[in-house]
This record gives sequence, structure tokens and C-alpha cells, in this order.
Amino acid sequence: MDLMEAIGKRRSIRRFSPEPLNNYDLYEMVQAARLAPQAANIQPIRYCLVHQQPLLGPVFECTKWAGYFENYAPPEGHRPQGYVVILVDEKLKGRWTDTDVGAAVENMLLTATSKGLGACWIGSVDRDRVRHILGIPEEFSIHSIVAVGHPAQESVWEEKNSDSIKYYLDDENKLHVPKRRMGEILVPITPHID
Ligand SMILES: Cc1cc2nc3c(=O)[nH]c(=O)nc-3n(C[C@H](O)[C@H](O)[C@H](O)COP(=O)(O)O)c2cc1C
Repeated sequence: MDLMEAIGKRRSIRRFSPEPLNNYDLYEMVQAARLAPQAANIQPIRYCLVHQQPLLGPVFECTKWAGYFENYAPPEGHRPQGYVVILVDEKLKGRWTDTDVGAAVENMLLTATSKGLGACWIGSVDRDRVRHILGIPEEFSIHSIVAVGHPAQESVWEEKNSDSIKYYLDDENKLHVPKRRMGEILVPITPHID
């Protein structure tokens, strides 16, 4: 898949089919993440791969979905088949760590898209519970989680037509994600060359 096609196709997916993941796909997502640009190349991020059936339910219970909707967590049978838990090594944490995570996670999401998978980056996480369920050592903080599965939902981006940036569902349950127009985000420069 061409890169711009993957960037356009990548949407947050919140409904999945029950088809299990190929664990190697999760592994390759981390492979893509670790090659992302990192401030001073410090690489403070660590990753946990979760695909074991008995862990999927408990980790799912720690996640919150689609804040703009009421009760839009994926129902039984439509839940993610794997998770990548994003950790930060507290000894290496610095002012750019959040930015480092952003670069790494976007690489993961685009890799998932290029493989025909769906993913959703989840920041709304019960971290204490995840730490307990997975036995994550205290030296790591839990930044966020990427939920992954085979997509069972259509989601498209569109030009923002109103004042609202809120994603919405149409009559066919297709998700629409308004993106700010080029004219809104390109700021004209007023050069002064002295
Ligand atoms: C840092 C971050 C945290 C997010 N946390 C959540 C979350 O907790 N639950 C959720 O359903 N979506 C979450 N999202 C997904 C956003 O809602 C989504 O990216 C946004 O609505 C735009 O849709 P798109 O990803 O399809 O372009 C998060 C996205 C980012 C970048």
C-alpha cells in the first residue's frame, strides 16, 4: 500500500471481527515503532504485546472508547484481538517523551493499516488495573494502549464542513471523522528578511 493511501485509510477502528491476529503482525508493529524518530535518539519507550486469549477480556475492561458517544465500547464478539501496551522507562523519561510516543505509535497504526488491520489508540486507560493484570514493573509508567484487530467497521475522514470536529455515525453506522481543511491549518507567513 502506498504511504499516502495508508495515511488516508488509517482511521480509529472500534469494531473488530472475532478473527484472531497473527502475532507476527503485532511484532512488526513494534518493529515499525522502534524505527521512529526519537528526540536525541534516547528511545524511552517499551512495549508489551498482549494476544493471549485469557488476557484479552481483562485488558479490554481497562479501556474506554469513543468519548463523544455514549456506550460505544465494542460489544462482545467485536472486541480487539490484541493490544500493544506502551510503556515509558521512567529513568529515560524527558520533556520529549510524549512526542516520541506519538511518532512511534503513528508508525504502529500505519503498519496495522497497511496489513489490512484496524487499530485504535487508547489514552483512556485504567493504568493501575493494567499494571496489576500484566504484572508491569514499577520502573515503567503505562502511557497508553493500542488496540488491534481485523476491522468490522467502516470509518472515513472528510473535510470539516461545520464548526464541529466531533466524529459521528451515519444511518449505516459508518463513522465520519471531520478533519480541519487545508485553508484552516495553513497559516500565511509575513516574511521579514533583514
Ligand atoms: C493520544 C490519543 C489518545 C486517544 N485515546 C482514545 C481513547 O481513549 N478512546 C478512543 O476511543 N479513542 C481514542 N483516541 C482516538 C481519537 O479519538 C481519534 O484519533 C480521533 O477521533 C480522530 O479519528 P481518526 O483516528 O480516525 O483520525 C485517541 C487518540 C490519540 C491521538
